[in-house]
Amino acid sequence: MFQNTLEYAKKQDAVDPLASFRNKFYIPQDGAGNELVYLCGNSLGLQPKLTSEYIREELDDWAELGVEGHNQGRHPWLPYHEFLTENMARIVGAKPLEVVIMNTLTTNLHLMMVSFYQPTSTKYKIVVESDAFPSDKYAVESQLRFHGIDPKEGLILWKPRKGEELCRFEDLEEIMKEYGEQIALLMIGSTNYYTGQSFPLKDISTLGHKYHCKVGFDLAHGAGNIQPDLHDSGADFAVWCTYKYLNGGPGSLGGCFVHERHAENKKFNRFTGWWGHNKKTRFNMRQEFDPIPGAEGWQLSNPPILSMAAIRASLDTFAEADFQRLRKKSVKLTGYLEFLLDEMKHDAIRVITPRNPEERGCQLSIQVKDADKNLHTLLTKAGVISDWREPDVIRVAPAPLYNSFEDVFKFSEKLRRILK
Ligand SMILES: Cc1ncc(COP(=O)(O)O)c(C=O)c1O
Repeated sequence: MFQNTLEYAKKQDAVDPLASFRNKFYIPQDGAGNELVYLCGNSLGLQPKLTSEYIREELDDWAELGVEGHNQGRHPWLPYHEFLTENMARIVGAKPLEVVIMNTLTTNLHLMMVSFYQPTSTKYKIVVESDAFPSDKYAVESQLRFHGIDPKEGLILWKPRKGEELCRFEDLEEIMKEYGEQIALLMIGSTNYYTGQSFPLKDISTLGHKYHCKVGFDLAHGAGNIQPDLHDSGADFAVWCTYKYLNGGPGSLGGCFVHERHAENKKFNRFTGWWGHNKKTRFNMRQEFDPIPGAEGWQLSNPPILSMAAIRASLDTFAEADFQRLRKKSVKLTGYLEFLLDEMKHDAIRVITPRNPEERGCQLSIQVKDADKNLHTLLTKAGVISDWREPDVIRVAPAPLYNSFEDVFKFSEKLRRILK
């Protein structure tokens, strides 16, 4: 149904109901003022034009009100994080009670493991996918060591089979059959950063719970990309960042999900701070820690408002676009990219991301035989912002909020010319 012409790509943009959202973002340009083909939202999302306005508002309130901005600001700083919750919860398929924006991804992962990884002498192992993002692996290994467990003994890797890149669910089932009684936690990336494979969150949660394990997900590459339906998945917890598909700006705050069934449990082992304490008595200062029910109870500190303002701007843009519509466009846009790559009929190219749209987000990971980083350099020189992963993979991620069918077409043309 797709066609390999610029005219066709332009036609798709003309009938795309979300096309106007591109104008709500700053698209990076080359030195001559031409828009670059930016396919790197899996690394850093682009800046919404609303962002500076929202940050400006907080700077002005700070200038005019000083400390009174906590209560008298146009968006008072005391409850500021609450202004983000509903939109964030909708994107990850959670209830507002289950979601909070705080800290950064790896910090949140540690906080969650303090609560949800409670090893005993017989049930102490953690399962991660073998090509998990290094920070996740470091965090998990350090948690094992913190409990006096050698990672060599405590870590189980869910690996692709020999000669394959993707993990098979049935292999995780085998791991659980063999070691389930010894496993305390499954900590899996929702969408793998390298292959772009999205895992079946509900199936993994159900499997883990069958063996009385806790189950957590890293949604760094899932939030704002796939529809993770976190509440229905039954996962115990999830963490993510907001600087990729959520366009919150470099190094912006992380997100955290704790399932509703844990909301009222005040006995949790957790690391605590005053921002997680009962809002009614927080400023009495002399009280025993009394956690806010739900994910908010894991907050530590009063949050950086300027970063939160940027995230609020982005989430408002998402809400206007509507996430269901975005996902629908995303499936088509990435499908078009896949079609154009297939059309190249080039022996050196192989997409390692799953073909099934249900098993991926917008990213395609393209393995290029015998290529080195020079290929990426040539693409960059040709005006494409993409991402290179050693040894031979280009990751491209058309984000449905600001990328167009024309972007995708231009990318494929530039790649085809370079490979020639
Ligand atoms: C899958 C995944 N996990 C963890 C991280 C680390 O995130 P942070 O530096 O915000 O802790 C990243 C960063 O890109 C990531 O892609």
